[in-house]
Amino acid sequence: MEKEMKIGIYPGSFDPVTKGHLDIIERSSKMVDKLIVAVLKNSSKSPLFTVEERVSMLKEITKDIPNVEIDSFSGLLVDFAEANNATIIVRGLRAVTDFEYELQMSQTNRIMDENVDTIFLTTSLEYAYLSSSTVKEVAIYGGDVSKFVPSYVVDKIKDKINALNNGGHNE
Ligand code: PNS
Repeated sequence: MEKEMKIGIYPGSFDPVTKGHLDIIERSSKMVDKLIVAVLKNSSKSPLFTVEERVSMLKEITKDIPNVEIDSFSGLLVDFAEANNATIIVRGLRAVTDFEYELQMSQTNRIMDENVDTIFLTTSLEYAYLSSSTVKEVAIYGGDVSKFVPSYVVDKIKDKINALNNGGHNE
């Protein structure tokens, strides 16, 4: 009998992708045949980067991991999972403060689609404090974010902030 391909989805805003996200991508990609990193399109948060920019940064920093694909989605995560034959949702857990929201989300998703299970990876300790929001805050006030995001992303953040300071704006 042919073995069914195990497909996982790692969803998020990734605005921008951090070293903590990359750590979860590297570890979870070893647990599945294919990992789709999926950027949410219809977030209510006001983003620093457009979805296309976030997808492009994710593609660049994961280009050496063969079973990782980058995509974006709108609407319900379980619908995107079903459309891609994915049965596993991957999320990172940093601290107990993440837990309530993550539990609620995973239970809601499971009620909506019993074929999809969420697995949680505990974030590596060195990244336990890290979030895209704090990275943005540090960057906007001119701080060094090279400890927090991959070097490719550091340059993109600098470019973006320069563009915003020169009067550009983001959709
Ligand atoms: O990185 P984030 O912002 O914490 O990711 C949140 C995300 C994208 C996983 C979540 O908002 C999501 O799955 N949104 C899609 C809409 C959906 O399916 N909602 C129902 C689950 S509560």
